[in-house]
Amino acid sequence: MISLQSTHALLDTADTAFGRDVLFGLSQPQKQVPCTWLYDHRGAELFEDITLLPEYYPTRAEVRILERSASLMAHFAGPQATLVEFGSGSSRKTPLLLSALESPAAYVPIDISAQVLLESVVGLQGRFPHIRMNPLVADFHKLKRLPGMKSAGRRLGFFPGSTVGNCGPEEAVDLLGKFARMLGPDALLAVGADATQDPRLLLPAYDDSRGVTAAFNHNLLWRINRELAGTFDDVGFRHEARYDAVRQRVEMHLVSRHAQRVQVLGHEFRFARGESIHTESSYKFGPIKFQALAKRAGWTPLALWMDDASRFTVYLFERSF
Ligand code: AVI
Repeated sequence: MISLQSTHALLDTADTAFGRDVLFGLSQPQKQVPCTWLYDHRGAELFEDITLLPEYYPTRAEVRILERSASLMAHFAGPQATLVEFGSGSSRKTPLLLSALESPAAYVPIDISAQVLLESVVGLQGRFPHIRMNPLVADFHKLKRLPGMKSAGRRLGFFPGSTVGNCGPEEAVDLLGKFARMLGPDALLAVGADATQDPRLLLPAYDDSRGVTAAFNHNLLWRINRELAGTFDDVGFRHEARYDAVRQRVEMHLVSRHAQRVQVLGHEFRFARGESIHTESSYKFGPIKFQALAKRAGWTPLALWMDDASRFTVYLFERSF
């Protein structure tokens, strides 16, 4: 392990945010890399594959809820609303809302990948030729304001997929507060969040029988090797999903199969046998807890919908200040 005194010098050798996060994360007592780095082009493709897996219930549950709730959301939003989607990815769930809204003024998808945005907007424009599409290439965590959008209607923020669960509770309050400020007065926000607490469902969802989630996790090592001159031996690590019942979160780890040394950007990191890199946390907020977090961020609950098995929840909030 690299000593704390040398951490500053170490970070000076990385000239990208990815490099800095990896060097810093691998020098912590519990090695870790922030989960945003799982999503290079291949990572985004693998995540799309995950959403189609029989074990990964959240996507199907959320789609079923949106099919039932979109018309009521559209009623709250009223005519000429602007739909703003945070981390839109493939925008697979967006048509459910766009078709329900009355004469929507515009759709503003925000995603870090220009390529993914372009592909999704081209597809949606073909299907909804009368809706103005204003794609924005940005990391929504870092975005401060939305580009000027003149419309008589309300703004409806859309944050599906339980992406909010990849934040811890305090981070979720910060992010939802940021959305409130970005969307402005009178805005609405629809958020999807996984509420499942049963490890018998959660562990297969994050460690599927076809190994797609394992490949998604391992892709991070390939990315480090490619972009940060890493020397990770992919087979020297195994994917592991863990459920932490106290923190109510699933964790993804890459566990070292044996003692080994790895180089990244010219720096050496040692792994003991069984030592892991923590690559993602997925918090599973129940409705009471989640609504309390949203209230702290300036959102008033208007409605919530659950799927028949009460695993997943979609919330509709209204700005309260
Ligand atoms: C994007 N995010 C909400 C997914 C989740 O469930 O935490 C990412 C994922 N990781 C493994 N499987 C899916």
